[in-house]
Amino acid sequence: YKSMHRESVQNPKKFWGNMAKQELAWFQEPKKVLEWKVPFAKWFGGGRLNLSHNCLDRHLDGPRRHKAAIVFEGEPGDVRVLTYQQLHDEVCRFAHALKGEGVKKGDRVMIYLPMVPEAAIAMLACARIGAVHSVVFGGFSAEALKDRIHDCGAKLVITADGGYRRGQVVNLKKNVDAAVAASPDVRRVIVLKRTGTVEKLNEIDRWWHEITDHQSPDFPPEKLESEDPLFILYTSGSTGKPKGILHTTAGYLLGAHLTTKWVFDLKETDLFWCTADVGWVTGHSYTVYGALSNGATTLMYEGAPNQPEPDRFWRIIAKHRVSIFYTAPTAIRAFIRWGDQWVEKHDLSSLRLLGSVGEPINPEAWLWYHRVVGGGRCPIVDTWWQTETGSHLLTTLPGIHVMKPGLAGVPFFGADLAVVDEKGKPVKDGVQGKLVIRKPWPSMLRGVYGDPDRYQKQYWSEVPGAYFTGDGAKRDKDGYFRVIGRIDDVLNVSGHRLGTAEVESALVTHPAVAEAAVVGRPDDLKGQAVVAFVTLKTGQKAGNDLMAALREQVSKEIGPIAKPDQIRFAEALPKTRSGKIMRRLLKEIAAGGAVKGDVTTLEDLNVIASLQSSSSEEG
Ligand code: WTA
Repeated sequence: YKSMHRESVQNPKKFWGNMAKQELAWFQEPKKVLEWKVPFAKWFGGGRLNLSHNCLDRHLDGPRRHKAAIVFEGEPGDVRVLTYQQLHDEVCRFAHALKGEGVKKGDRVMIYLPMVPEAAIAMLACARIGAVHSVVFGGFSAEALKDRIHDCGAKLVITADGGYRRGQVVNLKKNVDAAVAASPDVRRVIVLKRTGTVEKLNEIDRWWHEITDHQSPDFPPEKLESEDPLFILYTSGSTGKPKGILHTTAGYLLGAHLTTKWVFDLKETDLFWCTADVGWVTGHSYTVYGALSNGATTLMYEGAPNQPEPDRFWRIIAKHRVSIFYTAPTAIRAFIRWGDQWVEKHDLSSLRLLGSVGEPINPEAWLWYHRVVGGGRCPIVDTWWQTETGSHLLTTLPGIHVMKPGLAGVPFFGADLAVVDEKGKPVKDGVQGKLVIRKPWPSMLRGVYGDPDRYQKQYWSEVPGAYFTGDGAKRDKDGYFRVIGRIDDVLNVSGHRLGTAEVESALVTHPAVAEAAVVGRPDDLKGQAVVAFVTLKTGQKAGNDLMAALREQVSKEIGPIAKPDQIRFAEALPKTRSGKIMRRLLKEIAAGGAVKGDVTTLEDLNVIASLQSSSSEEG
């Protein structure tokens, strides 16, 4: 590891040039490995390839042809298995259908589907024709979907009548109808029949099966350039609305492919289950692209972990003989709370490797995961990365590195990570600082869609010459990184990224609200809980009804995942003399937890603020 990592960082062109040739299938091999003009990278110039060809066609000539590519289990218990050949055929049929609807190379296509195989099929079909997909998690609201449609200028939306979640039907189509009604540029909505809850389509809609089933199962993959855009995925930042993170073809694929292969120590016979929804980057890179590019079998599960009972995940692992299981600490903490008996009821002897992702894992949760789920025999990889990084950048490699509970691990190949101080200088081991990346890596974001300035400002101006991750970290004497969490105004709620500014602007769209400030509060289950401090317009009355209305407002603007856990009404928000909200103070108040039982009287935060010394004047 050490010598390979050193070489990969010192001579990235050689390392990645070799990896690209060795690991990916090219129509034309690249001529130039890297062009780097801070902060803009071009990887594998002159190369031509197609991601769906790498994930499908290249497996069809050998023994993988009739191997399961996707094992799907729906929440009601329905199971479907698609072999590589079958998946290839479905992707080709759907690619024809998309072409038939006028989708061309470079067009943006919105995907708003449940966790069903068609989500992967839609992504791969876009990749096959060179269209740029943007998957939106089904838990986001109509309003959030509309914003994303407008931002990327999508003309086509792929959805389903509904999906199953906690025994209920999530009415995706209703949200799409509302979003599309406010999006004059959308010309077509393709609707998958999943729940049978939509009887009649609108004029703009077509059933998935009606435009797909009769199509040819052959569709030659478009010979795309390495830097052709592959997808846009929206994620929360510290300012404004979510940003469209742009990833391109070759570099992204190489990162997703190689990390899946090495971090999960993938074997031909594995059944790999990454529990992330395809609406998040983890679902993109590991459930779909990384697994399929390696010719692995990937498991997709549609629903909730506690439906019908808290042992659904363990039931699935035992039934399908899952060997690699990759989930989030927030889920692990919920399992702990539900009790060991739900896990112990099932034969989990098929498991050989466990993974954690999305937020720091506390050592207690790590040890429980290792002992109870992993039976004390499975290594755990704690993978740190971001929507922006495209693939893992910190992890241990099973069989190579010692695991340390609570520490993500060491830099993956090609990753030049450092912990730096306010001035951008590396700090001593053991000292906390900002986590930065000092060199380009193949699966890095190529920018913020439609906003090159924001890319530069947001990521490349905090620390000169380096990419700032937004995370705080510490490195130990063995070179292991402990990621502390976000030090910018981004929250991590149940492993989901949420911008405080986003929630604040959702709150102020309510007519009763004058000002809002949102902060995170440590939470045993969710990692962080959302606390909103709100001031009201004159004549408005605080109370339980308004509190419920405000939570509803956030759910409508963003989605149920963003609903504040607590809303505190205040006379005024504590501000510095220059008028900046004193967030650190609000965080302390939120963490203190003392809330008056009576929500109809307003808290006077200025009194608390005035008690603080001037040292808290940080804005
Ligand atoms: C956090 C999810 C600690 C981190 C893949 C990062 C983690 C943000 C870990 C990105 C981990 C992710 N240990 N923190 N193993 N993995 N994070 O874009 O704060 O949804 O910046 O990508 O999640 O969230 P995103």
